[in-house]
Amino acid sequence: MAAVRWTIEPLPRPPGAEVRGLDASCLGENDVQALKEAMADHGLLILRDQKLTPADLIALSQPFGALEPPTREQFTLPEEPDIFVISNVVENGRPIGSANDDMAWHTDQIYFDRPTAYTFLYGIETPTEGANTLFCETYELYDELDAETREGYANIDIEYSHNKLFAGRLTPEQMLRHPDVVHPLVRTHPVNGRKSLYFGRRKLSRPLGMPEDEGLRFLDRLNERATRPERVYKHQWRPRDLLMWDNRGLLHSATPYDQAKHRRIVHRTSVIGEKPY
Ligand code: SIN
Repeated sequence: MAAVRWTIEPLPRPPGAEVRGLDASCLGENDVQALKEAMADHGLLILRDQKLTPADLIALSQPFGALEPPTREQFTLPEEPDIFVISNVVENGRPIGSANDDMAWHTDQIYFDRPTAYTFLYGIETPTEGANTLFCETYELYDELDAETREGYANIDIEYSHNKLFAGRLTPEQMLRHPDVVHPLVRTHPVNGRKSLYFGRRKLSRPLGMPEDEGLRFLDRLNERATRPERVYKHQWRPRDLLMWDNRGLLHSATPYDQAKHRRIVHRTSVIGEKPY
């Protein structure tokens, strides 16, 4: 790892590590490289008590790669359109963000040819109950497979559809922008070479080379194995938490909260990754 002045404390079980002593608003080149390596190793990094303006969030995300503009422009922050707002707050009769994003296990933007590598999520207002974010990794799922199953899985490709996922919520113009894509089930991490299982949920996914219902049951089984409670880290948010994660071998899910009682405002940026291989 590149020389840095902060420390990393892994959580008791993967995924996740807490980064201590780092101010994310002034990252140097060494910090960025070391954070990339740490995300490859731990999946998720947790930084508490960060004081970030929207411009800071953009500035800290940019050195990790090109930013992916949000596909639903109606929920972007007017002054920083590369920030996607997750919120139940309504101002002047207009929701300032997307209220639920996204209460099912997923890896970010698997429906792109080059899906999101890194996601940054910054908590501004966070409910004291509920609205946790759950994480689990899928490297272990691959490591646990016997040699014959690994060989079989190496030949499985899965098709993903952005338009199926957001059906009914897109303008005709938004629908034209995102054709379906195909990615391999077994994915290799470009930084450390580790293999993981890379898959989406049934709503947008179609494993190729098998009957559709069998393919969907196959995905359900993978999802069930990946998300067993003992594999899951539950992040209980505090205001000014910054989470950064590497989507290649990691699944996450939002969880509900009482939206009549609590306000939630969270800002997200996404960094474009490589074509999965
Ligand atoms: C996300 O899926 O990126 C958002 C998770 C959350 O809102 O907790």
